[in-house]
Amino acid sequence: MRKEIIAGNWKMNKNVSQTKDYFSELLPLISTDKREVVIFPPFTSLSAAVSCTQGSCVKIGAQNMYFEDSGAFTGEVSAEMIRDTGAVRVLVGHSERRTLFGETDETVNKKLRKAFETGLSPIMCVGEDLNQRQSGETFDFIASQIRNGLAGIENDSIVVAYEPIWAIGTGVTATSGQAEEVCGFIRERLAEQFGNAADGIRILYGGSVKAGNIKELMAMEDIDGVLVGGASLKSEFADIVNYDD
Ligand code: PGA
Repeated sequence: MRKEIIAGNWKMNKNVSQTKDYFSELLPLISTDKREVVIFPPFTSLSAAVSCTQGSCVKIGAQNMYFEDSGAFTGEVSAEMIRDTGAVRVLVGHSERRTLFGETDETVNKKLRKAFETGLSPIMCVGEDLNQRQSGETFDFIASQIRNGLAGIENDSIVVAYEPIWAIGTGVTATSGQAEEVCGFIRERLAEQFGNAADGIRILYGGSVKAGNIKELMAMEDIDGVLVGGASLKSEFADIVNYDD
């Protein structure tokens, strides 16, 4: 009932020619209607990525956006500008945006509203750091990120990605049990806001996902997909997309 999402976040990697090379290698290796495949290139490669993937099973999204429509916001990119490239999704509140660039639950909330208003489908990222996990604050923290990030949002096509910060880029993946525990908790919080519709909301796990651990993670009840960083840069991503369930 919940279509799986296999998403690749390139972060600050790949210029236009590397983007073209990547898709000419990847596309022949994947073909699926069963799973939604989406790649998040940097802004400068969005248009190239959209044209490379036309007619394929891969959709394109942006890694960030600003919540205003236009104006004196040097360095920012609006939702409409992203939509205009042909991209259909946007990541909001990735932990690197939060920890390195001052993103807050409040800006996350404004971006989610603007994304929906513009017709871009957002994925909201949440996740605790190592300190919070070790001091037993994980569940309270995730609950507050969900409550504040989604305040006043009624659109149940929202996708939530649980990405524990201690598992991102570290090679340390959360165990499938740890990931499921939090993803299940997220679904309960979503049910408080969206009622029965929470059963249809996709929840992704992210943090050192690889071809070797995708299957175990995806076997979990409340994990409906993955957000892949490092391993999405290489053709290993095809093995992740094609994992055998
Ligand atoms: P990683 O990154 O797969 O390299 O750990 C995940 C992410 O930041 O989305």
